[in-house]
Amino acid sequence: MNEKAALAVRGLTISIPTARGPLHLVEKLDFSIAPGKTLCIVGESGSGKSITALALMRLLHNALDITAGTVDLNGTELLGLSNKEMRKVRGAGMSMIFQEPMTSLNPAYTVGNQIVEAITTHRSLSAEAARTEAVRLLREVNIPAPEQRLDAYPHQLSGGMRQRVMIALALANNPSVLIADEPTTALDVTVQAQILELMRNLRSRYGASVIFITHDLGVVREIADDVLVLYAGRVMEYARAQDIFENPQHPYTLGLFAALPNGRSREPLTVIPGLVPMVGQFPKGCRFSTRCALATEKCRMEQPLLEDFGKGHRVACWYAPIESTRP
Ligand SMILES: Nc1ncnc2c1ncn2[C@@H]1O[C@H](COP(=O)(O)OP(=O)(O)O)[C@@H](O)[C@H]1O
Ligand SMILES: [Mg+2]
Repeated sequence: MNEKAALAVRGLTISIPTARGPLHLVEKLDFSIAPGKTLCIVGESGSGKSITALALMRLLHNALDITAGTVDLNGTELLGLSNKEMRKVRGAGMSMIFQEPMTSLNPAYTVGNQIVEAITTHRSLSAEAARTEAVRLLREVNIPAPEQRLDAYPHQLSGGMRQRVMIALALANNPSVLIADEPTTALDVTVQAQILELMRNLRSRYGASVIFITHDLGVVREIADDVLVLYAGRVMEYARAQDIFENPQHPYTLGLFAALPNGRSREPLTVIPGLVPMVGQFPKGCRFSTRCALATEKCRMEQPLLEDFGKGHRVACWYAPIESTRP
C-alpha cells in the first residue's frame, strides 16, 4: 500500500440527487494499488462495489454523480478529463471486465471486429497487423482455433469463451489497471476456476494492477494482495490480505469470514442476519450498527473514522483493535 501507486483514489463520493439533497451511495472512499498488485473489494450485494468500479472508469449511469474525490491513474487526475480524453484512458490506461460479457460485447459484430476495433482505437496498426494481434490475444486467453473464432459472433460462443474474449478485449492495449467486477459469478464452477487461473497468469505476464470484485472469499484468499471491505458505501476495513485473514478486526469482516473454509473449496460469503439498510435510511453512526451484535449507543450515534492500527491495517470501528477494547 505504500509503494508508488498505479491508482490512488481519495475521498471518492458517489451520490444520487434527491429533492432533499444528494444521497451518498459511496462515501469518502480511499484506496491505492501498487503496480502489479491485486486489490479485492468484498461486501454484500448493494454495498457499492459496482458503482465504484464504474465511477473509476467514468461509466456511471447518468442518474449518479461523483460529488467528491480524486482518482489518480499514474499521475493523471481522471475526474478532470474531458469525455474525449477519458475515452483514450479506457482500454489503454484502465479497462474493465464485467460479470456478464454480453453487457460489453456487441452482439452485432464478430469477435474479431471488436478486438480489432479496440486495438486500432489506441494504436495505428494496419488492418492485417491488427488482425494478427487479435489472433495472438485470443490465443493468449486460451481460445482454441483463434483464427476461426475471429469470425464468430458472441452468441455463438459459450459463456466461458465469451468471458475469455472480454478478457482479451480488456488486455488488448496493455492497461496498467484492470478492473474485474465479479467476472466469474455467472459461470459454472469448472469454468470459474479456469478463468481465475487465466487471470492470474495474465496478471503476472502483463504486470497490470487488478481490482477484483468478488463474493468468493476462496478467490480473495488466492489472489488478493490487499482487501477492502465495503458496507453500505463505506469502507469498514482495509488491509493487506494476510493481515485481514489472520486478524480480521471489524465485526462485519468477522461476519463475512465466519464460514471461510480452510481448504481450497469455494464458499459464498456467510449470511449475516438482517439486511443492508436502504439508501437514505443509513443510520446516523456506523452504517453496520443496525446489524452489529456488538453495537453500543456510541456506534448508533457517531460514525467511526477509518483508523490505521499499524502496518496499514485500517478499521472503522469504535471498538478496534479487537483484543483490547471490545465490550
Ligand atoms: N443507476 C442507479 N440509480 C440509482 N441507484 C443505483 C444505480 N445503480 C446502483 N444504485 C444503487 O447503488 C447502490 C450500490 O449498488 P452496486 O454498486 O451495484 O452494489 P454492489 O455492486 O456492491 O452489489 C445500491 O443501493 C443500488 O441500488
Ligand atoms: Mg455489483
